[in-house]
Amino acid sequence: MRKPVIAGNWKMYKLHDEAVKTALELRSLVANANHCEVVIAPVFTALKTVCDRLEGSNVRVSAQDCATETEQGAHTGEVSAEMLNDAGCSHIIIGHSERRQFYGETDRSVNLKTRACLKSGLTAIVCVGEMLPDRESGNAEKVVKEQLEGGLDGLTVSDMERIIIAYEPVWAIGTGKTATPGQAQEMHGFIRSFIAEKHGKETADQTRILYGGSVKPENIGELMDQTDIDGALVGGASLSAESFSKIVNYNLG
Ligand code: 13P
Repeated sequence: MRKPVIAGNWKMYKLHDEAVKTALELRSLVANANHCEVVIAPVFTALKTVCDRLEGSNVRVSAQDCATETEQGAHTGEVSAEMLNDAGCSHIIIGHSERRQFYGETDRSVNLKTRACLKSGLTAIVCVGEMLPDRESGNAEKVVKEQLEGGLDGLTVSDMERIIIAYEPVWAIGTGKTATPGQAQEMHGFIRSFIAEKHGKETADQTRILYGGSVKPENIGELMDQTDIDGALVGGASLSAESFSKIVNYNLG
């Protein structure tokens, strides 16, 4: 059975103290949530303190990006996966659509970052998702397939144990427009069959595929009811501990 993952991407929100405060609120609100893995992704400057303050809890901490380089060196502005591991992170979000759209992320850099993440022993949350024109022209699966092929290129079956896929249709991010559970399920099923083709059914059956795009306490239940949806990557609704904990505790009602 795949253990669901509910992850909160805090994007470029929250100064240090506010991030710590929200993390601590969340820590107590989800203390009894054993049905899923809970992950939050604060900004770089808050990572170390948040990791320290969540020690011994069931909340894991993710970074939102990492360097493609793995060796220390002259890479101004970059933070390596090894440094994120050193700060206490267990996950790294890689290839988020905002990085692809606005910061020049490519399938090639996603692949390098994913390898760097795995090399440091962390779990990669690799994001894929089509833009609105791709969906409208019937190319959504083709685009997602290309992103998976490029981003996961060269990974082995054992690498796949530390890969989580997040499907985030770009047109559903921050827009209030969620993909219908049926639309999301269709793409999740497609992603799982892609993994089965590359790495076999057993690996595909074990890989967690998260949905992201306007997930809220009100719609998490119907999304989680879908066979191939194994959790969520939540933006806006993860910024408040109260609303994020309701999403985490979707199983209670
Ligand atoms: P929203 O939940 O705000 O739509 O953001 C989704 C997202 O980009 C998570 O990574």
